[in-house]
Amino acid sequence: MSRDQQSFVLDGRPPVWNPLQVDAYADYLALLSVTNPVVAVEDIRSVDGEVLLARSTFLNQQNIAALKNKMLSRPLAHSIQIETLLSAEDLLQHLLNTIRSTEYFQSLAERKHPLSSLEPVCAMLSRLPLVQQMLTVMAVQMNDLYQRTLCVSLWSLYIAQEMRLPAEDAGAVFWAAITHDMGMLHLNPQILNKTDDLTADEWLYIQCHVEISNYILADIPGLSPAILIAVSEHHERCDGTGYPLAKVESELSILGQVLAVADAIVGIYFNRFKAQGRRWREVIPVLELNRAAYLYRSCDIVAAMILRSELPLPNVVSGGGVPEFAERMLQQNLHLQNWFMQLRDCLTSVGYTHGDRKLHALQNVVLHIATTFKGSMLFKEDLRESLESLASEDGHSINKVVADASLMQQEMAFHLQRLSRMMQMYISSGEGKNPKIRQHLQDGYTKISGYIGGSNTPHS
Ligand SMILES: [Fe+2]
Repeated sequence: MSRDQQSFVLDGRPPVWNPLQVDAYADYLALLSVTNPVVAVEDIRSVDGEVLLARSTFLNQQNIAALKNKMLSRPLAHSIQIETLLSAEDLLQHLLNTIRSTEYFQSLAERKHPLSSLEPVCAMLSRLPLVQQMLTVMAVQMNDLYQRTLCVSLWSLYIAQEMRLPAEDAGAVFWAAITHDMGMLHLNPQILNKTDDLTADEWLYIQCHVEISNYILADIPGLSPAILIAVSEHHERCDGTGYPLAKVESELSILGQVLAVADAIVGIYFNRFKAQGRRWREVIPVLELNRAAYLYRSCDIVAAMILRSELPLPNVVSGGGVPEFAERMLQQNLHLQNWFMQLRDCLTSVGYTHGDRKLHALQNVVLHIATTFKGSMLFKEDLRESLESLASEDGHSINKVVADASLMQQEMAFHLQRLSRMMQMYISSGEGKNPKIRQHLQDGYTKISGYIGGSNTPHS
């Protein structure tokens, strides 16, 4: 059986994706075809040999609907051609636009990362027609993902250059960044674009984009193994809290971890900061709290790069809004402490001799949170006193320490939410072999469920 004919099996879980099945990518192609014709360059056949779409047919929503959920003899991407592909020059132009419209990139480019270094890196696109095809689709049909991809690529390249990695490695991490989320093009957009909380199954489904990206890229000649490894590791974390394999630092490549930190910065900025008009500068305290998750020194490098731009720190709030802000921060601080202690007590009281790797991963997360927050200002009396003083009278402005602390509290809420969700997934997967431990975790989860979703952020 060829690789294309195998089912896509994830770590013992049921197949979730098959490259021969017609999926969301076909819909994106049909939509693109309205303005940029997409044509079948060979007969598109079912796995049984029946011709479903004849050679030279232009794709549209009707003929794609007839293919939906069919199994093909070859992946659709190999049987079609897009009239106008995104070129290396287009990619370069889009990166330059991103730099010019982003004050930090602009500043970095002026100070240390000349624009001229991008051209030879982008040139590789002309040797990767399948990547060109997917990037063309992404740029039009998933433009938000494309814009993020450009940012991740710039951060990856700049971090690699700051680390003084060889030019070949810097180029490899740039291409890993350009291709790392290609798998998203094959996922159901209704789940991807869901605005309310994802179920555990939906979360697992989205996590599969890593394996799908790797599966697709493994068949593209010209992509080095270092690129594939970096893509496969972009959601892994040095402290073992990532996915899909919960690897730890000693098992991870440097390029994968450069990509991971770049992807994390962009995720934090786009998901939580951009809509509020907040700046890249505010990512620093968040990274600071997650030090253990990222490659040694990468947080310092990113912080130095952002600070070197010498762009100002924005005030979170000032004047009459300060007492209310400080009061909300105090309440959130207490809420987070209680939530954390419940989780910690539940997860650590089962001991560490159970031999269950996934339960160890949960315990590692809670210990990581404990270590991180013990070393931070969040549970210190000084912060509480500052907040009580700010809450009691008008006229103050929020200083840098309190501004950073408010970001750290949001970050802690995010971590506790994530750990609670991981715990729920572990319980509902039924993977825990020991019934007593399972029951103990179930009881613990019932206790903490009241905290989830009520993080009471001062920015809300
Ligand atoms: Fe990803």
